[in-house]
Amino acid sequence: MEIKQLKEKIELYLEIFFQEKEKEFRGSEFFKEAVKKIKEITLTGGKRIRPIIFFLSFSTFSSKKKEEALKTSIFLELIHSYLLIHDDIIDNDTLRRNKPTTWYSYEQYLKKMGLKKNQEKMAKDLAIIAGDLACSWAYQILSQSKFAEELKIKGLAKLNEMLAKVIEGQFLDILLPLKKKIKKSQILRAYLLKTASYTFQYPFQIGAILAGLSPQKAEELSSFALPLGIAFQIQDDILGLWAKEKEIGKPLATDLREGKRTLLWYFASQKIKERDKNFLQTLIGKKRLRKEEIERAREIFSSSLALAKSKKLSQQLINQSEEKIFSLKIKKEAKENLIGLVNFLKKRNV
Ligand code: IPE
Ligand code: IPE
Ligand code: MG
Ligand code: MG
Repeated sequence: MEIKQLKEKIELYLEIFFQEKEKEFRGSEFFKEAVKKIKEITLTGGKRIRPIIFFLSFSTFSSKKKEEALKTSIFLELIHSYLLIHDDIIDNDTLRRNKPTTWYSYEQYLKKMGLKKNQEKMAKDLAIIAGDLACSWAYQILSQSKFAEELKIKGLAKLNEMLAKVIEGQFLDILLPLKKKIKKSQILRAYLLKTASYTFQYPFQIGAILAGLSPQKAEELSSFALPLGIAFQIQDDILGLWAKEKEIGKPLATDLREGKRTLLWYFASQKIKERDKNFLQTLIGKKRLRKEEIERAREIFSSSLALAKSKKLSQQLINQSEEKIFSLKIKKEAKENLIGLVNFLKKRNV
């Protein structure tokens, strides 16, 4: 099956899933609103990388139950939604996939309901539990799927392991700015944990486990996913400053506003001028950055070669991953699909 076709089927299964949830919760006013909000973020766009990887992995190692695997693959989009809903609270972002983020959308909802003060706090409280709900649905989908019980238990254990990684990554993402000195390796480790784990490494592993591979074998085979996932986050940071807001569907330069320790920041900080450093400091905590401020930040990251160095590292990591895929002992067609994904990342612009 072509990747495009896969994506369409994943979206169809997501729609069916939400129709069922709407039915299940139609009698409850508050749940109904939460279902609407989770549906909104989940169905509006997204590259669907995680279920695609899961399915490619599954179908590499099993020729049976493929449709069931595709149907189950949406648990990863619900995990993704849960992580994004919480991430947008953490990062104080108001736009995702060109739509208001869940907490921001709840804020509008509360205003409409007539709430006059404390709307932001309450909106964030509601979004936190809506995120929790999405997470519980992911577990539900995987645990109710029609795979052998012992395979599902192993898959669920991996899902837990995956979330522990992402959570550690988010801890680092939040707390690294407090450290006086940080190493490049710490930033890359944060990327590995917060992004590579749940975007490539574990979706591949869980797919392989449900297809019958041992967790050890699945882990061994997923090593190509690590450099690819780190590169993916480096690209995400670059796009977050240089792409157009409409294209990525997220506000620009929010890492700067939040004082995040990105790889771009690391390279620039190696030889930054005092006045540029002070300028970047003034951006932290602002509600929205002005065009001129974004322009100047771009200039700082380009002229210090931080942009060029980040791009180079991301290319090197993608190449590493490609080599690992070539050396995998898997079916030719599966290999071609994985290489297709690598090629997509080489040219990625959203
Ligand atoms: C965004 O993930 C969050 C990161 C881990 C960088 P994606 O870039 O996969 O987001 P969608 O699903 O396509 O919107
Ligand atoms: C996203 O990291 C990682 C998770 C959602 C766990 P970012 O905060 O860098 O991603 P975007 O740019 O908001 O999508
Ligand atoms: Mg974010
Ligand atoms: Mg974040």
